[in-house]
Amino acid sequence: MAANDTLEGCFELMGGDFSNAGAASSELKSILTKLGISADIVRRAAVTAFEAEMNVIIHAVAGTMHYMIIDNTLTITLNDMGPGIESIELAMQEGYSTAPDWVREMGWGAGMGLPNIKKYADIFKIDTVVGEGTTLEIYFRLKGEKC
Ligand SMILES: Nc1ncnc2c1ncn2[C@@H]1O[C@H](COP(=O)(O)OP(=O)(O)OP(=O)(O)O)[C@@H](O)[C@H]1O
Ligand SMILES: [Mg+2]
Repeated sequence: MAANDTLEGCFELMGGDFSNAGAASSELKSILTKLGISADIVRRAAVTAFEAEMNVIIHAVAGTMHYMIIDNTLTITLNDMGPGIESIELAMQEGYSTAPDWVREMGWGAGMGLPNIKKYADIFKIDTVVGEGTTLEIYFRLKGEKC
């Protein structure tokens, strides 16, 4: 990928749609791999996109995952309509989860998604309005990438 290339795309996400869970992040992973982005960044981007995608499916009503590469930065933005997050401080704590029992029975709800996104992203921003929805912005620096 040339340094000045711009690339973007968007996936629709549906709350409760567990049959398609992970489809958007796995497609994003394959797009990033084909662009020749380094394996470490692809891995970290895929993990964070997957956790954020699952959060929309588990906790929200509907949303989108948008990705953009510009100026050697990969930005993954998740926007959802949903309940929002009452306390971001609590939500960011490892092990904190409001996932209901039926979600936990499927193996989700360990309360590790947001802490892992923060850990693997270069920059992570979260913005939420209770009763309206949540926006996540996840950034990765691509500078120095050889493609
Ligand atoms: N998009 C969202 N909309 C509403 N609430 C959210 C959203 N994302 C996270 N939360 C809230 O933040 C909590 C912590 O999120 P986190 O991803 O860390 O854990 P989890 O989704 O509950 O479990 P895990 O990610 O380990 O399966 C959630 O339990 C939920 O209360
Ligand atoms: Mg989660």
